Amino acid sequence: MIPGIAGDPLVYLDGVYTPLSQAKVSVLDRGFIFGDGVYEVVPAYGRKPFRMDEHLARLRRSLGKLRIAPPMDDAAWRALVAELIQACATPECLVYIQVTRGVALRDHAFPSPAVAPTVFAMATPFTRPDARAREQGLSVICIPDERWLHCDIKSVSLLGNVLAKQQAVDAGADEVIQLRDGHVTEGASSNIWVVSGGRLLAPPRDHLILEGIRYGLIAELAAQAGIPFDSRPIARDELAGAQEILLSSATREILPVVRMDGAPVGNGAPGPVYARLRAGYDARIAAL
Ligand code: PDD
Repeated sequence: MIPGIAGDPLVYLDGVYTPLSQAKVSVLDRGFIFGDGVYEVVPAYGRKPFRMDEHLARLRRSLGKLRIAPPMDDAAWRALVAELIQACATPECLVYIQVTRGVALRDHAFPSPAVAPTVFAMATPFTRPDARAREQGLSVICIPDERWLHCDIKSVSLLGNVLAKQQAVDAGADEVIQLRDGHVTEGASSNIWVVSGGRLLAPPRDHLILEGIRYGLIAELAAQAGIPFDSRPIARDELAGAQEILLSSATREILPVVRMDGAPVGNGAPGPVYARLRAGYDARIAAL
């Protein structure tokens, strides 16, 4: 039995569906040895994947940046994700997909000739953000961004993010806001949004952040709602004086941040920009 996961769900590993407790990879897998792989987290609602095209496009981009040949085409990914969603115990689930460079004797350089990538995927029940998070909001602490310079790759090498998230937990906060050279980058596992001067801001889509699938979606929802949006650097002062702060991810959808470093954000309650974007997000899920 795997801690925290009810039952023993079927998962996919290298072409075979197997109970999670039986799914094993070699200790020489480069994901285990080097963190040499990429992943995706796709939320599904009512057993339908949300923003699947965008997740598959990002998976292809991440694989391309690591020079790992795609192990299957989009039709095969779609079929696999559909199977896992059908097999999941609940209609709301998170599909986790991981591809590593495969199994080879330990050597930093890529195996030559290339070996078959390891492909793992599973669907686990997804508990959507509860009323407390949606109506009362989250707290964050600000910390320096100490990660590498390829944060745009959705890599399984997540040590910087893991250590950042633990700082939040240790401080009794829900998430961190990381800053690099005095500018906002992102959370440990989320993108950050700031409302300043009545405009919605998000850091540029560059190598310093992972461009979340919700990044493009929220930009779309803002345009629909007539909220002016700029993708540009956000300095520490602008963050400190924000009217609202929001965060987004597959698991947290879009949520308001109401406390930062122990002080209220704006008036300390979820704001009107959050309310409109949240309504837009829920409407997209309802229309799936
Ligand atoms: N993480 N930035 C980082 C560093 C992230 O880890 C994530 C999501 C995001 C938001 O991306 P998206 O909107 O595509 O979920 C931004 C996932 C949920 C995770 O690692 O579990």
